[in-house]
Amino acid sequence: LWLAVGIRRRQPGEPAVENGFIPYLGCALQFGANPLQFLRSRQRKYGHIFTCKIAGKYIHFLCDPFSYHAVIRQGRHLDWRKFHFATSVKAFGHDSFDPRHGHTTENLHQTFLKTLQGEALPSLIETMMGHLQDVMLRSDTLSPSTDRWEVDGIFAFCYKVMFESGYLTLFGKELGEDKSQARQAAQKALVLNALENFKEFDKIFPALVAGLPIHVFKSAYSARENLAKTMHAEKLSRRQNVSDLIAMRMLLNDSLSTFNDLSKARTHVALLWASQANTLPATFWSLFYMIRSPDAMKAARAEVQKVLESSGQTADPSDPRLTLTREQLDNMPVLDSIIKEAMRLSSASMNVRVAKEDFLLHLDNQEAYHIRKDDVIALYPPMLHYDPEIYEDPYVRTLQNTKTEMTDFRRDSKKSSTFFRGGRRLRYFYMPFGSGVTKCPGRFFAIHEIKQFLTLVLVYFDMELLDSAVKVPPLDQSRAGLGILQPSYDVDFRYKLQSRQ
Ligand code: HEM
Repeated sequence: LWLAVGIRRRQPGEPAVENGFIPYLGCALQFGANPLQFLRSRQRKYGHIFTCKIAGKYIHFLCDPFSYHAVIRQGRHLDWRKFHFATSVKAFGHDSFDPRHGHTTENLHQTFLKTLQGEALPSLIETMMGHLQDVMLRSDTLSPSTDRWEVDGIFAFCYKVMFESGYLTLFGKELGEDKSQARQAAQKALVLNALENFKEFDKIFPALVAGLPIHVFKSAYSARENLAKTMHAEKLSRRQNVSDLIAMRMLLNDSLSTFNDLSKARTHVALLWASQANTLPATFWSLFYMIRSPDAMKAARAEVQKVLESSGQTADPSDPRLTLTREQLDNMPVLDSIIKEAMRLSSASMNVRVAKEDFLLHLDNQEAYHIRKDDVIALYPPMLHYDPEIYEDPYVRTLQNTKTEMTDFRRDSKKSSTFFRGGRRLRYFYMPFGSGVTKCPGRFFAIHEIKQFLTLVLVYFDMELLDSAVKVPPLDQSRAGLGILQPSYDVDFRYKLQSRQ
């Protein structure tokens, strides 16, 4: 009977299991309503590991941070590709990237490392800095002036500036030598359309990951296909300054895969999503928390001024050409801390691995549990990020202008060796980018581009909240598990160009 209704019974040596009340969905709704609260309550009841049925899958949640390493060490029993590749196919509709399925022999992981890290990074940073200044000051995206405050939502502001700059950095410009107004307008329309399509598609992303077919969502489906249309090889080949990532992927799509043209284009849409979906809300939270804390903003301004002075640069909005090297960006501990702290409070990416076979999972405390083939093992980093035993006063950012605020935004510049739990040093305490082999390959670029963004708004603009006592907007939990959460609503601020004496 248990088998007939798809309910699992706990076998000896297995973690405690919750099947939930709803067929197929299992505990999905309870989990979705407030994942952290759900997991904490089960942790209190069952201990370090337990199993929940969620959307047809049995997921073992591992809640002991000291055992995270155990999962990574026992990686030979776990498949990290299966889940990731299947999710990408479901959401973006391209053929599978899994070499075992025979559509491509590309080692995607290697492509990402080669084109987003190491020697590839300086040119990404340089291109991004140019586009950010163009978008903020030269194009008509913002049109700020020194004598008039502009009012906007902080998320809306971050969205348009970061999307356009990030899009152009990865996918290049169609402009060529033709700098006519008509060409400029066409280029602008292309980016604006991409932004609107991206937003429309991104709204339903959680539903796609949960397994709903995209055809249910007519406008999101056409938004995704519209994006794909702009990314066919013949369209991309007309662009200049395409990033190494996209250029190399085009080459490998052609040489190592049997993907058709549409499938190839959809793989680029997947990369557009990966490069923007987390960066946009992470930029929002960084800017929001910085503006909200006078101490943080003051310290950040001083840091930016120092870096510019030491490289002999002055900000001139009528000729915006500031550049920062990778070394300079790496040497900005205040901005670093503002960004990392903002992500600690907003990230909710689940780390997922699939069991390749039945095996015995050994935890840090010498316990061992039977795991069945095809079960999922999940780590949920917010359990660390909000753990008061690791981060004292983990919600302290919700208190404005308290004396703890200053120390708070600096907490992540502490040496990593100083994070403890129960007197023991932790190896894993901060995981907005995932862990192990699937750790985000774009993480260095992501931090750098947000730092560049903050640097530029600090040197070019005066900014203030419309309501200086505004509350922190709640996190929109609909994306819990998928990355940085968006705010439930936007927060208004005003900005104007700084006047120069
Ligand atoms: C994957 C976070 C920005 C490219 C991921 C994953 C996370 C993540 C959690 C999945 C890791 C896992 O499953 O274990 C973030 C955050 C970002 C950010 C928080 C910004 C604050 C970027 C940027 C790029 C990028 C800017 C590229 C330009 C990718 C790619 C993958 C990925 C290609 C898939 C890797 C794979 O499956 O092998 N990211 N990311 N990310 N990210 Fe990021």
